[in-house]
Amino acid sequence: MPDFDDFDDRTLSLGLVRVSEAAAIACYPLIGRGNEKAADQAAVDAMRRELNLMDIAGTVVIGEGERDEAPMLFIGEKVGSGTGPAVDIALDPLEGTTLTAKDMANALAVIAMGPRGSMLHAPDVYMDKLAIGPGYAPDTVTLDMTPQDRVAALADAKGCMPADITVCILERPRHEDMIQAVRTTGAAIRLITDGDVAGVMHCADTGRTGIDMYMGAGGAPEGVLAAAALKCMGGQIMGRLLFRNDDERRRAEKAGITDFDRIYRRDDMVTDHVIFAATGVTDGSLLSGIRRDGDFVCAETVLMRSRTGAIRHMRYRCPRS
Ligand code: FBP
Repeated sequence: MPDFDDFDDRTLSLGLVRVSEAAAIACYPLIGRGNEKAADQAAVDAMRRELNLMDIAGTVVIGEGERDEAPMLFIGEKVGSGTGPAVDIALDPLEGTTLTAKDMANALAVIAMGPRGSMLHAPDVYMDKLAIGPGYAPDTVTLDMTPQDRVAALADAKGCMPADITVCILERPRHEDMIQAVRTTGAAIRLITDGDVAGVMHCADTGRTGIDMYMGAGGAPEGVLAAAALKCMGGQIMGRLLFRNDDERRRAEKAGITDFDRIYRRDDMVTDHVIFAATGVTDGSLLSGIRRDGDFVCAETVLMRSRTGAIRHMRYRCPRS
């Protein structure tokens, strides 16, 4: 009898690639078509279909929303054949719906999987996030520091001037003060319009992306996905949930959260080994987007395992259906 308690990340990871590929490829006809909802739906349908082919007893812990607002891939939905290891799944079939609708950079189909009970059940609220890449001492930067102090501390640790640091921030009115504060240091800011999972991942590959640090408030579910990515790539992320009203606090309570001020570090959000796959939907600095090549479509996926630190870039070509 196979031991279903064993999280066989080596084998499962190959199945995971198919899941993120399917979601990204399903978006292809909707890239640049101005229809966020249709693109998201296509990705959700395809991801769920492919996920259900996997021999896992999966539970969606980060998904499309609560059961009453998301008919598919809702939080708590059981996925997979039911015969196989008990796993938690965090997913975002289309991270960057607007990026896809407008054909802008870095839209991804994203999924992470770990043993049952290994991922924070983050409610659908905002999270204040701060991330840097690998190689720095713990707490080189912290959420309690001002933006200026974070830049100074990272520059110090990196052995460079603040002006040599590049910070990635979501362009939102709520970040205006933060952006001004970072500007006073002389650091550069890469403003992104959406897609903070990719934004955080950029920090773990500074040589390629030019990004040293990510900061700002974005979705808490995306925070857990980003933590899964950094657990594989190396790097630090910390986050604190932000609540705008009682309804959001209730959502957090429902998700089992009792300490509303807690700072979650990477390994608090993802407590065990994890596998992570992201397929490019639109072209970006991490991955190529879905391409047409004659009668074929082509996809690029990054597949990562935290247990080994292995990172694979996989190219897939399949006939257009
Ligand atoms: P969608 O793919 O659901 O559109 O989310 C994209 C995103 O930019 C996330 O990456 C980010 O965490 C969140 O939205 C930010 O939320 P908001 O748009 O409300 O500022």
